[in-house]
Amino acid sequence: MSSINYSEKIPNNVNLAEDRTLQRALEGWQPNFIHWWDDVGPERSTNHEVYLRTAVSVDPSGWAQFGHVKMRDYRWGIFLNPGDAERQIHFGDHKGEKAWQDVPGEHRANLRRIIVTQGDTEPASVEQQRHLGLTAPSMYDLRNLFQINVEEGRHLWAMVYLLHKHFGRDGREEAEALLQRQSGDVDNPRILGAFNEKTPDWLAFFMFTYFTDRDGKFQLSALAESAFDPLARTTKFMLTEEAHHMFVRACCRARRR
Ligand SMILES: [Fe+2]
Ligand SMILES: [Fe+2]
Repeated sequence: MSSINYSEKIPNNVNLAEDRTLQRALEGWQPNFIHWWDDVGPERSTNHEVYLRTAVSVDPSGWAQFGHVKMRDYRWGIFLNPGDAERQIHFGDHKGEKAWQDVPGEHRANLRRIIVTQGDTEPASVEQQRHLGLTAPSMYDLRNLFQINVEEGRHLWAMVYLLHKHFGRDGREEAEALLQRQSGDVDNPRILGAFNEKTPDWLAFFMFTYFTDRDGKFQLSALAESAFDPLARTTKFMLTEEAHHMFVRACCRARRR
């Protein structure tokens, strides 16, 4: 595994520097992502520095850095958990075979659909929550909200990486479309109904972290078993961040007792 070069635009542990085509595709997508963040990300947050954790590696003993950062300057990186060359598929028709490092043609359409659907939820929740910063009950809640928002942004990056790396031109088109659909939009809504609902107040947000994030955890846990190994490895690492999203639900409930 490569060490991470912090001077790179996109922090990663996937040897991005050695794949110029992929790097260029991602660097092309990045400005559109920032544009999306400015447009429909957390409202009136642009000029504020926020104390945030940033994933910088997958080392369980120290995977994150903490510091003040303006959210649009957050370093959305790409991290896969370490691979196991011997990993096998544990269920289904392919049980016992080696996990796939590339997408088999026969499962391409389904895998793309799964990755796009997962990817679509990540920016959708940021859009749903964009007004909440204006009415945060406390600084503590505000920081938790923004932490979740930037990490959902990173989860979008995680899925876009897979689309760019493994799905060629239609993967790139899907990556663009992930920035074009919008939560609640009449003409071009997000894929799943729950992500088109309004999150008008903090009670709705806590319910979101209580139920939807929990559902998301099981969804990610299922994807972490995927026969497509890069998907399994990236979702395993996403679960590390997701633990905090569920903690927000639990701790908010505890504090209100
Ligand atoms: Fe997420
Ligand atoms: Fe989450």
